[in-house]
Amino acid sequence: MPRLGDATRGRILYGGDYNPEQWPEETWHEDVRLMRAAGVNSVTVGVFSWAKLEPRPGQRDFAWLDRLMDLVHEHGIGVVLATPTASPPPWLGHLHPDTLPVDQDGRTEWWGGRQHFSHSSATYRRHAAAITEDLAARYAGHPALTMWHINNEYCTYDYGDEAAARFRRWLGNRYGTLDALNTAWGTAFWSQGYGDWDEVMPPRHAHYLKNPTQVLDFRRFTSDMLLECYTAERDIVRRHTPDLPVTTNFMPLWSGQDAWRWAEEEDVVSVDLYPDPRDPLGAQHGALVQDMTRSQARGPWMLMEQAAGAVNWRGANHPKPRGLNRLWSLQAVARGADAVCYFQWRQSRQGAEKFHSAMVGHAGEQGRTHQEVRQLGADLAKIGPHTAGTHVGAGIAVLHDWHSWWAGDQDGRPSTRFDYPDVLHAWHRALWEAHLTTDFAHPEHDLTPYRVVVVPQLYALTDAAIDNLLAHVRRGGTLVCGFLTGVADEDDRIRPGGIDARLRQLFGIRTLHEWWPLETDETAVCDGFRGTLWSEEIEPDGTADETVPYKGGELDGLPAVLRKGRAWYVSTLPEPDALRDLLARICADAGVRPALAGLPAGVEAVRRGDLLFLLNHGRDPVTVGVPGTHRDLLTEATVTDRVTLGRHGVAVLAP
Ligand code: GLA
Repeated sequence: MPRLGDATRGRILYGGDYNPEQWPEETWHEDVRLMRAAGVNSVTVGVFSWAKLEPRPGQRDFAWLDRLMDLVHEHGIGVVLATPTASPPPWLGHLHPDTLPVDQDGRTEWWGGRQHFSHSSATYRRHAAAITEDLAARYAGHPALTMWHINNEYCTYDYGDEAAARFRRWLGNRYGTLDALNTAWGTAFWSQGYGDWDEVMPPRHAHYLKNPTQVLDFRRFTSDMLLECYTAERDIVRRHTPDLPVTTNFMPLWSGQDAWRWAEEEDVVSVDLYPDPRDPLGAQHGALVQDMTRSQARGPWMLMEQAAGAVNWRGANHPKPRGLNRLWSLQAVARGADAVCYFQWRQSRQGAEKFHSAMVGHAGEQGRTHQEVRQLGADLAKIGPHTAGTHVGAGIAVLHDWHSWWAGDQDGRPSTRFDYPDVLHAWHRALWEAHLTTDFAHPEHDLTPYRVVVVPQLYALTDAAIDNLLAHVRRGGTLVCGFLTGVADEDDRIRPGGIDARLRQLFGIRTLHEWWPLETDETAVCDGFRGTLWSEEIEPDGTADETVPYKGGELDGLPAVLRKGRAWYVSTLPEPDALRDLLARICADAGVRPALAGLPAGVEAVRRGDLLFLLNHGRDPVTVGVPGTHRDLLTEATVTDRVTLGRHGVAVLAP
């Protein structure tokens, strides 16, 4: 099976989306000159080129792309070639309105933007397959071609009639009979029982709360339909170029796609990552996404898109201050990326993204952002040969599952004062601030590589997942579970007792009497810390080895935290410092230590292969103790016992 290493060949891929169709051909020559000067070795071409490649139905115009492929190849730059199927040309929707998606309110999503395709439309799928087939036939064997990029950020929903028909077929496969569907969906509630498959609909606009299992299954269905679109195109390009890797770019922690499942269908896992430069926790968000992508890839992965400066889709779009682009790019490499790419190479002069930064911005070659892009290219060239293909080790796994997220984050739940990603971020932040490197895993994955398994919140767990957690503890592993875990099964049916009985026994809980959600500005006082978001009225069964009680209020004296052996249950979200200290202690007890001892706050340390990455997220210079003698691959200096990192500074230390 082809891998990222087949494209990187011992380097870090550096480059980005390149949209030459937006520019006269003279500019292409200027582009390749600048690319070479910046150390760019890879461009992603064709992402939004459908109208240019197929200007009228069935016509093909590959001449411009032939010239472009030849040109970049002459300059030693590889091409990640995209199938252009994320943005069909206007003629497709005009001739075939059935290719347009319909939202839950029955509104058509028209052309004029992008991603206006129905994943369920047979007509769309046919046209997408045809252009993919011809593109793959044309460029198979072209020496510039290194990898395939299918579509772009698959993310569409469709509630229309063709999607409804496919949804019924999908449900037929899942449940077999309407009786089984009625049971799974709990349709005895509110008179929802179905007597005929034609009555079953996507969860379209409704007067009041929708059936939660119908919504859950529709999310599963949507992820599966988009995956069918992906695999159909993947199989076409694979037939032409069996030795080239295939990817599609994920949006980070996006709710619409079960990325665990998708990653199994990719040769290379890639992600688009846009932390807000003004967000004090932007680096931690980046680390979370990077850890998750690496875990999906089970090794090196590709940063397919990031911004060199500002994006154009926040309220106020802040540029990256000097050094931040380099810092966050090297953070991705530290956490396993073997490709650092951007949206996009040259900033557009027209269109919806003309205010989005690029590797060459409106300020041109002399612009600060471009100059920093050049410096980074030189840095990556230095470290690439040392990182390519190497792994990041972690003794901790944070469990995450899209299906549980889909089941849990619905209307009609006990509290809407938080969303699942907030909880996931909070737990990852605690580990990140404790300088502990973590993987992510699916609750049914093999957990034997990990000493500590952290479950921030898995509201819905299958029996197999619960068995997996129990087996981890039986093997001597440490388990830490946050609140609202093990509450429902895969049909979103509440487990008797409000938490699965096996988990209650594991933690020493006799009865979970009530959930006590907290208001946004409210905290629950516990012995030694404050809890946020949530609290619980738990009656212990007397078998716990350690408890930390709530103090005062309705829950006074009841356990906020329980530990029984190596199994911990945390019934609130401790404030950040408290959660960090708790996890640091638990991990230390389990023999899992930070990448480097005595790190100052704001400095991130990650080990990748035999390299130690040190990243200063602070604005002030900082000195870090690093016992022994090392070689800094960036400065080529010898470092003994300590190294000073400037503002946003990075050191990559080799033994
Ligand atoms: C996404 C898309 C790109 C571009 C960027 C802008 O990542 O894939 O085409 O729109 O967002 O941030």
